[in-house]
Amino acid sequence: MQFDVVTLFPRMFEAVTRWGVTGRAEEANRYNLVLWNPREFAAGPHRSVDDRPYGGGPGMVMMVEPLEKSVQAARQRQRSQGLGRPKVVFLSPQGRLLDHRIVRRLAQEPGLVLVAGRYEGVDERFIEREVDEEISIGDYVLSGGELAAMVLMDCVIRQLEGVLGHGESAAQDSFFDGLLDWPHYTRPENYRGAEVPPVLLSGNHREIEHWRMKQALGRTWRRRPELLETASLTEAQLTVLEEFKKEQALLRSKSS
Ligand code: ADE
Repeated sequence: MQFDVVTLFPRMFEAVTRWGVTGRAEEANRYNLVLWNPREFAAGPHRSVDDRPYGGGPGMVMMVEPLEKSVQAARQRQRSQGLGRPKVVFLSPQGRLLDHRIVRRLAQEPGLVLVAGRYEGVDERFIEREVDEEISIGDYVLSGGELAAMVLMDCVIRQLEGVLGHGESAAQDSFFDGLLDWPHYTRPENYRGAEVPPVLLSGNHREIEHWRMKQALGRTWRRRPELLETASLTEAQLTVLEEFKKEQALLRSKSS
């Protein structure tokens, strides 16, 4: 997959390209990242990329032209790779909230152009002219879109073919089937009195699978009940969830 990122702080992206899963994936050419700094496309002796907002108020606004020229250069590069017109994604708190469905959809694209804004915002005309999709990573404000772009890249990259090994398939991630993950344990069996659930030591794979599914369903029900409305559970899963609820009720009645 081809990523082109427009940012005033290109070196921040070493956090993605140098470490861990995304670092190895870049080495293995599962994706390619090219960075574009709008300052390189800015006019004038100071190469300004921002200016004061019309209408007054605090802060600075990023100007259209350096951003537009950066995006056009990025598009041109992807076209020269034989790819079609890449989707241009602008990261901002005004965007649609990122979720696993959006991640999977974006992972199908041959290339993406991600734009990270800074300062108080970017001139709206840039968004109207160049941006296909505006995405937010949560209802809070970051100092810039770079961290959001890196979050998006990280979760898209782990979906790409051949990035995760057999033992760490993306199919096992939380949200793969719309549910939260089950709890995990490793050695020692007893950590200062806290035991690993015995079923995980039983070697009975059917029981282990049943327990894990029950935990995933139960956690989702307790922590993020709204996810269950869209998870389209199977009959078997509904039965297991009822089991979990009954066990919880029993535990509660015992402790009161
Ligand atoms: N830029 C600043 N805050 C952001 C957020 N929450 N999501 C995406 N981009 C941002």
